[in-house]
Amino acid sequence: MEKVLLLLLLSLASSPSVFSFNVPAIFTFGDSIFDAGNNHFLKNCTAQADFPPYGSSFFHHPTGRFTNGRTVADFISQFIGLDLQKPYLQAQIEVVNGTQKNYPSNGINFASAGSGVLRETNKDMGVIPIQDQLQQFQTLVQQNQIDSKLVQQSLFFLESGSNDVFNYFLPFVTPTLDPDAYMQVMLTEVVHYLDTIYKLGARRIAVFALGPVGCVPARSLLPGAPTDRCFGKMNHMVKQYNLGLESLVKDIPIKYPGAVGIYGAVYDIVQRLRAIPKHYGFSDVSNACCGDGILRGMLQCGQEGYKICPNPYEYLFWDYFHPSEHTYKLISKGLWGGKQSQVRPINLRTLANLTLSSV
Ligand SMILES: *[C@@H]1O[C@H](CO)[C@@H](O)[C@H](O)[C@H]1NC(C)=O
Ligand SMILES: *[C@@H]1O[C@H](CO)[C@@H](O)[C@H](O)[C@H]1NC(C)=O
Ligand SMILES: *[C@@H]1O[C@H](CO)[C@@H](O)[C@H](O)[C@H]1NC(C)=O
Repeated sequence: MEKVLLLLLLSLASSPSVFSFNVPAIFTFGDSIFDAGNNHFLKNCTAQADFPPYGSSFFHHPTGRFTNGRTVADFISQFIGLDLQKPYLQAQIEVVNGTQKNYPSNGINFASAGSGVLRETNKDMGVIPIQDQLQQFQTLVQQNQIDSKLVQQSLFFLESGSNDVFNYFLPFVTPTLDPDAYMQVMLTEVVHYLDTIYKLGARRIAVFALGPVGCVPARSLLPGAPTDRCFGKMNHMVKQYNLGLESLVKDIPIKYPGAVGIYGAVYDIVQRLRAIPKHYGFSDVSNACCGDGILRGMLQCGQEGYKICPNPYEYLFWDYFHPSEHTYKLISKGLWGGKQSQVRPINLRTLANLTLSSV
């Protein structure tokens, strides 16, 4: 009897079917919010988090993720019962050097920290723009390195645009476009992303709004930005961009037959955390846990002279630009099982449990 139970438990533990979600894999695109370590494999890239104390709260070593633990892509993978997706560049090396025979069947993470939806954003830092991330995915599909049936059932994640918006306010850049026109160019790139992944077979598409970028501690690096409150002009631009994103998502079922799109209202989720911090276990929602200078936003965490808080869990921000793992976990829960105010028209759990008919 005990033996049978043990065997049953073992088979449950090793079998993904116990979760009964209809999603075998996740393909992730975007910036540092999602990057699982791609930049680490780019020797000339200056946007890095592959040194301590990044990763210290969960992995207990740096992984290239720009936080102290897991990102939203990681949490959602765990909720579904999938292994965490590898960075594309790691998977590629492993296939080329023979450590792995095939590309992973649980999905791939293409996100590159510092990148934007605009090709030019942080080009000088050697990041992988979203257009090139798409190209990497497209090549794998066209070479049949990824099964097309798998693609159809998989989840597609996009979070990108924070760096484009932040850079718009850099002092040494004179924007040639007004904020509205800049945003429209950004949204055109999102349309290109949606067109491309749909053509390649994507059907479960999740697009995540930008968070309140104007509240990141790194605004202390910008001459015009206030440090006693969020940078209103930047948040205004983010909100306009998010409205545009949501309207693109609403068009998905019309424009792309057979596809389901959802919009993750990350901005609103984070603003709720900031409004009632104690309720969520935060003691500080303004300063970075790790860094230095005003708001601990003037020096990257891990660089010479950095300071670190005793309990990262109590901080909304881990470093000058990025949320802590605790914040990512709360965002993930909202996106996964949340109501319409957090994710719409359906949440990720429902999206992952839909049965899609092939078209
Ligand atoms: C990296 O930088 C070196 C020196 O500037 C250059 O020769 C090389 O081509 C670059 N490598 C890549 C992959 O861009
Ligand atoms: C292949 O690449 C992986 C990832 O960089 C590395 O960990 C592994 O040691 C390499 N194996 C060989 C045989 O070179
Ligand atoms: C998926 O949907 C079915 C039918 O609505 C439901 O019975 C099941 O509990 C759901 N599974 C999960 C894991 O949510």
